[in-house]
Amino acid sequence: MGFDKGHFKIVSTGHYTPEAVLTNRDLEKMVDTTDEWITSRTGIRERRIANGKTTSDLATLASRNALEKANYDKNDIDLIIVATFTPDLKSPSVACMVQAKLGLDKPGIMAFDINAACTGFIYALNIAERMLHSGLYKSALVIGAEVISKVMDYKDRNTCVLFGDGAGAVILEKDESREVLFNISSKGDQDLILYVDEYINMDGPKVYQFASRVIESSIRGLMEFGNMDTAMIRKIIPHQANIRIIKSASKALDIPLESFFINIHKYGNTSAASIPIALDEMLEDEATQADDKIVLVGFGAGLTYGACSLTL
Ligand code: COA
Repeated sequence: MGFDKGHFKIVSTGHYTPEAVLTNRDLEKMVDTTDEWITSRTGIRERRIANGKTTSDLATLASRNALEKANYDKNDIDLIIVATFTPDLKSPSVACMVQAKLGLDKPGIMAFDINAACTGFIYALNIAERMLHSGLYKSALVIGAEVISKVMDYKDRNTCVLFGDGAGAVILEKDESREVLFNISSKGDQDLILYVDEYINMDGPKVYQFASRVIESSIRGLMEFGNMDTAMIRKIIPHQANIRIIKSASKALDIPLESFFINIHKYGNTSAASIPIALDEMLEDEATQADDKIVLVGFGAGLTYGACSLTL
């Protein structure tokens, strides 16, 4: 499929990032690195660490934040999808744990996880849109949540400076007046340039090249599919992996860096949580209007990648 057109409205957004901050200075004491190296090569200054809280804890707190902001009746939710590669357990799903923690016990709710690594939230939005479109579900809680610190080797300077923990959530309902476009792909990678066993392993430069290429091609493909020009886009929310990847996309697409929402300095790469956290902060920080178009773009292990445009 790749390209898909649908409709939903974002009823509310929320996020939760743990209180504990791990700064570049802290990392200087743990591995052979410097604040200057990390900041100049990645744009990251600090990241959050869950310190005992689980992925479902973070996901539940982000969901509560979204419910409270819109004063939304939690009993309306009939679909819960969590994008994560760091579930609390192999089974049950984080989505079922969130359902229990939120006290959603109405029969007929469907709750499940998906793993598309850092593109997971965009994949989950597409699945939610299809399920709302079917008419069988009315209200979707879509979450990206990760506790990456539990699969982080704090002796490996190639990876431990990059990642952090967090969660973001959105509540969606069907709305025919608000168009959503998707351009989603995966490319099975037998070389495993990015994978997780006990810890995250990565060929940084190869992932960097892949990411820079697919951010540009995903957005270009989406704009062509939707007959969009750059003037129609209010903001682009990229997966927050490396400021240099975002800058290279800005240059390749000839879209000013100011049009990209950036919070990587505060949280590092939170994988599936990075886009929904940024979306929530962007809606809190910036003046937006109904009908504004927002573009989300992500990439990650798999390899997975894709972009999505939303109408506020
Ligand atoms: N502190 C200090 N030096 C470090 C370091 C660190 N934390 N990590 C790596 N280095 C060293 C390397 O060992 C290498 O040393 P050498 O030249 O003596 O061999 C040097 O810095 C340059 O390493 P290199 O990997 O070429 O740097 P880079 O400019 O490509 O930046 C990344 C490294 C990881 C920041 C960059 O490749 C990147 O961001 N890749 C994408 C990662 C990503 O986004 N992953 C998740 C995708 S969802």
